[in-house]
Amino acid sequence: MEQNLSERKKRVLSLIQPTAVPTLGNYLGALKNWRDMAEDYDCIFGVADLHALTVRPEPADLRRQTLEMFALLLALGLDPDKSIVFIQSHVHTHAELSWILNCYTQFGEAARMTQFKEKSQKHSDNINIGLFSYPTLMAADILIYQTDFVPVGADQKQHLELTRDIAERFNGIYGNVFTPPEPFIGKKGAKIMSLQDPTAKMSKSDINPKASVSVLDEPDAIVKKFKSAVTDSDSRVCYAEGKDGVNNLMTVYSCCTGLDYDAIEREFDGKGYGDFKAAVAGAVIEELRPIRENYGRIIADKAYLAECASKGAASALRLSTRTLDKVKRKVGLWQKA
Ligand code: TRP
Repeated sequence: MEQNLSERKKRVLSLIQPTAVPTLGNYLGALKNWRDMAEDYDCIFGVADLHALTVRPEPADLRRQTLEMFALLLALGLDPDKSIVFIQSHVHTHAELSWILNCYTQFGEAARMTQFKEKSQKHSDNINIGLFSYPTLMAADILIYQTDFVPVGADQKQHLELTRDIAERFNGIYGNVFTPPEPFIGKKGAKIMSLQDPTAKMSKSDINPKASVSVLDEPDAIVKKFKSAVTDSDSRVCYAEGKDGVNNLMTVYSCCTGLDYDAIEREFDGKGYGDFKAAVAGAVIEELRPIRENYGRIIADKAYLAECASKGAASALRLSTRTLDKVKRKVGLWQKA
């Protein structure tokens, strides 16, 4: 049944690229919020496999990592009956709209994108047009669902601004077609740092395996990594300038337990870093346990995965076709009855 507009919940959308298994940092900084948002918003979450093609992954890796990332989204607790959870390439309307948006985006605008410049340097042997038009595909992902809010990290903010510019330009020419999206700023934008170098962000591509915790790490591995986490020569558990390592552990502990920094300081008053690290590891293990267990079950159940992917794609296609049809009409593409 069609809901009337004033009753419609605000719509949130985000996609994640199918790369390596997300870290605790990705989880506490973004994915955990996705799950919480599903309560209050009309949510659409997807695996951006078309975006991943811009760096030419091994086909077998891309296929496996897409399935793994999709399973992980379900394992996080995103309910495929309440939210739309889908794989980008299963919904052809995205690529179609991105072509149209390419024609409403200036070369200079796309050339200014920081990520394009960085990736062109990093992949200087493969500066393809897909890498250049990556932001217009992202704009299509967002605009095709009339998305109100997009939870994005700092690195994607420029792309979101471009998306707004494209939407406003298009609306200026053709009337109200797109909802210009806003960035979604979470309650606390937890930024989790490397356990070995707490001045650098925790990253899945860190060469030191002790620097990051994956959301699927086993309890033993989690204990070991926190045990060897870099702290300082002081011994007090408190949040203070110059105590980057301890501050980071406090943030992790706070995110997993809901305790604020004062409460954490009181809890560990008179105790040393050893006790504190053990407690942080324990809290992380409990936080991640349901995800790891769900994931193990879901990744083994290929029939369930296929069923969820079909359901997500069908809903996404139905919804996105409305916008795409309107866009085609507006720009003058002749549509047969
Ligand atoms: N570019 C995003 C990233 O790398 C992934 C992405 C693709 C995305 N489409 C999106 C994020 C739409 C938000 C909305 O993180």
